[in-house]
Amino acid sequence: LLRGSLEGDLAGRHVVVSAGGTREPLDPVRFLGNRSSGKQGYALAATAVARGARVTLVAANTALPDPAGADVVRVGTARQLREAVLKAAGDADVVVMAAAVADFRPAEYATGKIKKVDGVEPAPIALVRNPDVLAEVSADRAHDGQLVVGFAAETDDVLAHGRAKLARKGCDLLVVNEVGDGKAFGQETNSAVLLGADGSEVHIADSPKEVLADAIWDQVVVRLPAAGP
Ligand code: CTP
Ligand code: CA
Repeated sequence: LLRGSLEGDLAGRHVVVSAGGTREPLDPVRFLGNRSSGKQGYALAATAVARGARVTLVAANTALPDPAGADVVRVGTARQLREAVLKAAGDADVVVMAAAVADFRPAEYATGKIKKVDGVEPAPIALVRNPDVLAEVSADRAHDGQLVVGFAAETDDVLAHGRAKLARKGCDLLVVNEVGDGKAFGQETNSAVLLGADGSEVHIADSPKEVLADAIWDQVVVRLPAAGP
């Protein structure tokens, strides 16, 4: 295959993709969650396999068939996702954080189901911050040349918020989606802007998630250092 051709341009590379949305338990039957379906992350995993990569898919609470050829690691909470991603990132060429990671978790976990009591108002739910996996992976690269890709879901001022987030997270690429009003979450198509830390800006019109995934891998491939011997 020609170097740079679509098929095989991730051959010999290990890529880690997180997908889905974390759930933060309140008690044995309840959690704080989000609307991420995992479809974009699964599309990234499937297209990376097609392009020759070894793929580790860290899947948080998804209900999708395993992409053929990917190693799937299932997680529930943000802290479990962090552990799985850091472990897989050790020898990864690329880490893509497509998962919707809960920013907060309940400060306390009730080991028994929380019960209502007649005439008593419920206690407020105290929250604490979760670790920022993308910022951590970006700051502590497992090796020189490791690439880190983040996602951002924004409702307004998409480009300005995206640029600021890219700088804050310290990743190489940020895939910025406009969300809200039924956009992106659980949908089959997605429009996005791919922002590079080098100042690049690539607009992807509303496309199937596989097309967006391939556009993301195109941006990754041109930034990968030459493969070892
Ligand atoms: N992310 C992460 N760990 C977190 C929160 C987010 O790794 N605790 C990652 C997501 O996987 C995504 C990127 O960070 O790739 C951006 O997520 P987003 O929620 O848009 O960014 P936040 O920094 O959490 O900002 P906001 O306050 O807008 O939610
Ligand atoms: Ca967030």
